[in-house]
Parts: sequence; C-alpha cells; structure tokens
Amino acid sequence: MGSMMGNPQLLSKMATNDQHGEISLYFDGWKAYDSNPFHLTRNPAGVIQMGLAENQLSFDLIEEWIKKNPEASICSREGVKAFRDVAIFQDYHGLSEFRNAVAKFMGRVRGDKVKFDPDRIVMSGGATGANETIMFCLADPGDAFLVPTPYYPAFDRDLRWRVGAKLLPVICESSNNFQITKQALEEAYDKAMEANIRVKGLIITNPSNPLGTILDRATLKTLVNFINRKNIHLVCDEIYSGTIFRGPEFVSISEVVQEVECCNMDLIHIVYSLSKDMGLPGFRVGIVYSYNDEVVSCGRKMSSFGLVSSQTQHLLASMLSDDDFVGRFLTESSRRLAKRHKLFTEGLQQVGITCLNGNAGLFCWMDLRPLLDEPTIEAETALWRVIISDVKLNVSPGSSFHCSEPGWFRVCFANMDDPTVEVALDRIRNFVDQKKGGGEVAPQKKKRWEKNLRLSFKARISDDSVLSPHLLSPHSPMAHSPMVRART
Ligand SMILES: Cc1ncc(COP(=O)(O)O)c(C=O)c1O
Repeated sequence: MGSMMGNPQLLSKMATNDQHGEISLYFDGWKAYDSNPFHLTRNPAGVIQMGLAENQLSFDLIEEWIKKNPEASICSREGVKAFRDVAIFQDYHGLSEFRNAVAKFMGRVRGDKVKFDPDRIVMSGGATGANETIMFCLADPGDAFLVPTPYYPAFDRDLRWRVGAKLLPVICESSNNFQITKQALEEAYDKAMEANIRVKGLIITNPSNPLGTILDRATLKTLVNFINRKNIHLVCDEIYSGTIFRGPEFVSISEVVQEVECCNMDLIHIVYSLSKDMGLPGFRVGIVYSYNDEVVSCGRKMSSFGLVSSQTQHLLASMLSDDDFVGRFLTESSRRLAKRHKLFTEGLQQVGITCLNGNAGLFCWMDLRPLLDEPTIEAETALWRVIISDVKLNVSPGSSFHCSEPGWFRVCFANMDDPTVEVALDRIRNFVDQKKGGGEVAPQKKKRWEKNLRLSFKARISDDSVLSPHLLSPHSPMAHSPMVRART
C-alpha cells in the first residue's frame, strides 16, 4: 500500500490534523509493548503491559453465566430461534429490553440510590463514542471544556479531533491529593475568559482515571454549583463506578443533583460504558445518559454512527436482567480488585514506593518522585524510558495525563494474572534497589528458570527496536497497533 500521508492534500484537513493526540508517551508505551509483548513462558523477558486499564479478573463469572444461559445467545441451539428478530435492521433507539436492563444496571452499580430512565439512554460505541457524541451535542469548534488534571489521555482525541473542542486544564496538585478546588475551577475559567475562549462545560471522570480516587459529595456539590453559576454543562464520565473496591462509598452525580437546590438539570450528562465495570471493552457498549431532552434526541440521531450491535444488546439484555448474577458479579469483582490492589501496593511498599490512596479503578497512581534526577518533565521522561526499555514495564508517565507535577506514573494491575503481577513486582523491586544503590539499571535479563524453558522467540522483535523512531511516530496504524486495538 502506498503512503498517502506524504501527500496530505489528498485527505481532509480533519483527517490530517494533529488533534488525535496520538503523539504521546502514553501511546509510545503501547507500541513498545506491542513490539515485544511479555508472555510468562513464550516471552518472559518481554514488556509487561501495565498501561492497559482492563478488568480481566472476573471473566470466569461471565463465562459461567453464558454456559448456564445458552438461550441468551443467538449462536446456540437454544437461542437461534431469536436469530431473525435480532438480525433484521434495528433503529437507533436500541432494543427496549436492552435499555431497560442497562438503566437498571446503572442504578444497581450506584447502590440503587437513584433510578435511571431507560428513555434517556443513548447508545454509542463505548465511552469513547459516548464522549464524542456528548461533545458533538454541546460544543462548536473552538468552544472549550474545562478538565481537571491529571486526566485520561484519550480525551485529547475523543473530545477534540472531530468535534474541534478545546480542552483547558483545571490544575490539581498532590498537596491536597489532587482534589478539585473551587479556586482552581475559577482560575481556569477566568483564564479562558481573558483569552476570549467560550467555555461550554466541565468534564470530569469519577472515579478518576488515572488517580483511582472518587470525588466526595462536597466536591461534587461544588462542581454542580460552579457550573450552574456559569451556566455551562457538566459531563461526568462514570465508567469506573462499578470498580470501587473499598470505602468510602461511591457518590454519583445523579445523586448529588437531587440534593442541590435549583440545579438546572439540562446541564447534567453522564457517560457510562460496560468496558470497565463488566470488563467488556470489546463489546463497545457506551451510554450517554442526559437529563436534557434535546441532547437525548440529538444524541440518539448521532447513535446511527456508533450503534451497539443488536446481537450484543440481545445477550446483555438477558445477562443484566439476571439480578442474582449482577449482584454476585459486582460483589465478587470488587473483592478481586481489592485483593489485587492490596497485593500490588504492598509489593511496592516493600521498596518504599507509595501510591495515592485510591479505592477504585483498575490502576494505581504511583509516586516515583524520589527516583527523579530532578523535578522536571525531562527527568520524568528519562525515567520512563529506562522503565520501558530496561525494566520492560509499560507504565504511563504523568505527563501523558497532563499532570502538572513530574514523577507520577499510572500503573494498571487488573489486566494480568497473578504470576505476571509477581514478575512485574520483582522487576520494580530490583530496579528500585539498583537505583538506590546508585548503580546503573541492568537491562531486563532472562532469569535462570526462564532460560531453562524451551522457548521460541521466532516472532520477537529485537529490543533495540522498542523505541526506534519509526515506532514512535507511526505513519500508518499497524494491524497490532494500540491505536487499532485499544485506548484505555
Ligand atoms: C475515563 C475513560 N473514559 C472513556 C474510556 C473509553 O472507554 P471505552 O472502552 O468504553 O470506549 C476510558 C478507557 O480507558 C476511560 O478511562
């Protein structure tokens, strides 16, 4: 295939602009992993993927349910009778049984403290599609959304690339555990006013990606009051709401808006998906839940571009309507996340590495400031390069989350099995010990037990290529590129 990128005028301005945010260490880490992926037996010296916020700890529960409920799938002898109904054209409203089940599930995940109206559920291709859909409904090109830092790197693509919205940081700092303050909000807003930029809203993730923390009720009220005073929108990405693994309890914006006097509900929108809470990112189930009728109506029309396949809707309608299963799944999933989080953070503590005290999500916000040569982004990037190329762990540096303080890294812990966690912890401990000893960090070598395994490295790309320039700025997504595969 010839390269069209050498001749950009053949493509649209939007297709060739740089607003997709692909040029980021976050995605570079993905590429490094992709070129040399760790496997416990087939490639034990490879890069361990700790940059993927996936929940793979409870697949067995879903598999067990599928086996017990063969009629829920149209691809089984028991379920094929529904095949024709599911195969024919579906409009963009979605199957009513699917919307009912998702609305009920959203309530359940939030402790049944609020009820969600199935008629306000708008479908989209994952939360990625949902975030773009809501942005499309609310912002014109050049309009801005405030976003507290550190924030999910793919917002740069999802909210900016095709819609043309701007993202303006609300600076949050470690001195108060990265809490969002009224002062920081006002400062960001005033700065936008001075620059003559129209602010259309504030977008938050709660629980936070990358912090793994939740917003307390008082902070949520501050946000609701702030956006009401300014008459701007509030978009709450709550896709990690079912990943709370210890107290305090999660508080959804849907609860808080009922408690704040005179809240203009037309300004409130929730983004949700089943990618994290159920661990089903491949199903591409995303939801915009808006309290604004016009947004629901416009978003629904937009759904045509990102419908959830009716086969998926059919299966999930059945699964999520099974109250016993949902209850068991949510309890067990959070128990397993708690266990994994404990294993991981205690392992880090053994070498004096601390993490922000989180209680949700699929990652920790790891504090490596003591390992920086100096408190700069350059030093953070240098440390990241050593971690990825010598220690062979794909962790994501704070700069890729727009963190204002160098030295923080996001490490995902729920996308691997226990033995892989142990290898990762071993590597981190060795690395920190060597760093503390003042020595150079030895590149990851095969251990004796690893060497003894009869391995085939046929497909492995040499380590030198991990950070080679062509991989750092790919001109076309490879079949295995993270840009094609995932974005978490
Ligand atoms: C905060 C946040 N929003 C949206 C997404 C995208 O999720 P989905 O896979 O449902 O598109 C992610 C994925 O990591 C995320 O962390």
